[in-house]
Parts: sequence; C-alpha cells; structure tokens
Amino acid sequence: MLSARLEAILSLLDPCQRLADIATDHALLPIAAVARGIAQRAVAIDLREAPLAEARRNVERAGLAESITLLRGDGLLPLLTVSVEAVMIAGVSGALVIRMLEAVPSLVSSFKQLVLQPNTDLALVRAWARKHGLHLRAERAVIVRSRFFAACAFEPGDGDDPAYRLSGFNAEQLELVGPRLLAEGSEAALRQAEMQCERLSALQHHAPLHAEELATWQLARRFLRGAG
Ligand SMILES: C[S@@+](CC[C@H](N)C(=O)[O-])C[C@H]1O[C@@H](n2cnc3c(N)ncnc32)[C@H](O)[C@@H]1O
Repeated sequence: MLSARLEAILSLLDPCQRLADIATDHALLPIAAVARGIAQRAVAIDLREAPLAEARRNVERAGLAESITLLRGDGLLPLLTVSVEAVMIAGVSGALVIRMLEAVPSLVSSFKQLVLQPNTDLALVRAWARKHGLHLRAERAVIVRSRFFAACAFEPGDGDDPAYRLSGFNAEQLELVGPRLLAEGSEAALRQAEMQCERLSALQHHAPLHAEELATWQLARRFLRGAG
C-alpha cells in the first residue's frame, strides 16, 4: 500500500507509455504506476547504489523486472539517451528539482507531463515552471503528521498559464499557495494556510519581515474558508 503522499503524487499521473521516476529510492512510485497500468514501462533513476539495491528488490518482488529499468545517474541526465514521455521527481528539495531540470534544458519541453513533489520551496518550483513554459494542469495536497506536501502536474503550454488567472491574487501569491489547490478548495491547502497564518503571526513580534507572506496566507485562508 502506498503512503498518502505517494498516492497524491500518483493520482496526478496521466496514462503514459514510458515514465521516468527520478530520485526513485525505493521505486514504489514506478512500481505502482506500472502495476496499475498507468504507465506501460518505467525507468527508475537514483544517484546512489544503496537505494537502487532496495529498488531492485522491490521491483523483483513485484514481478516487474521486465517493465522497469533501474539506472544509476544524476537527475535527468540519463534521459539524454533514454526517451520517456512522463517524468516524476518527488521527495527531494525544490532547489534540487530545479537544478535537475536546468541541467537538461533541451529535454524539459519534450516531456508530455512532469509530476513534481518538492519537499521544500514549492513556490520556487511553480515560479520556475511558469517562467519555462510549463502549465500547471493539476495539484494535490496532503498533510501527513502535521507536515504539508503538495504535488504539481505540469505540461508544456503556449502563452500565459491559465492556472494563474484566478482573480483576487497576483502571480507571486498564487505561486506560494498553489493556484489549482485554491481553485479546487483543497482541504489540505486550507489547513496549510491556517498553520502558516499561526506560525507567521507568532513570528511578527520578532521579524515583521514576513508581513507580505502572512498577508498572502491570510488571503488564501479567507478564500478557502469561503470555498468550503
Ligand atoms: C528521500 S528519497 C525520495 C524517494 C522517493 N522519490 C519518494 O518521494 O519517496 C531521495 C532520493 O533522491 C536520491 N537523489 C539525491 N540526489 C539525486 C540526484 N542528483 N539524482 C538522482 N537521485 C538523487 C537519493 O539517493 C535518495 O534515494
């Protein structure tokens, strides 16, 4: 059984022929994607041998060694020679996600879908995607042991991303909160807005620097309460 975080990520994957899961670790995402018939084949990539050994055991146990190829490599670099249409990167920092994407600029627009779940700096990843012609198709959020995780599904698009047309917010505010989470009235996003308001209000006494961020979360909280 997949964790709530991994289920949220997988729920964003559209059916595809070939999927690459970067920073795969245990390979649970590509295993579930192939076992459920969402992806026909998958490549699971990790930088280190130890996680790949566990991935290999899990893939063999699932009886999917014919459909899932394990590769050792840095980020998306192995995809310069292996062609896929869908990419997942989950459970690493937002800075690392961006570094991985920037290492292969010619490839990024060739993917039909990218499902990204950075553990940190979600706003930076959304901003990077918006600047690089990736449109935000959908988002899913979960809270696990008081920790907020959001996954974003991107696809190449022309012109301005329609996800950012939500009225009452500017683009930077939407990058922080998640335009699709707001539009769908996500319960996890409301909980996150409440937690951020609480945290940043407490910080105000010591560091009024966060006033703008607090105002954004308050706006999101008001919007999401209205949506419920
Ligand atoms: C916390 S695990 C995430 C596992 C899985 N994607 C998930 O969301 O549950 C992070 C994995 O990223 C791998 N990793 C770190 N830097 C990497 C890089 N530059 N390229 C590929 N894998 C990397 C690590 O070896 C580790 O297995």
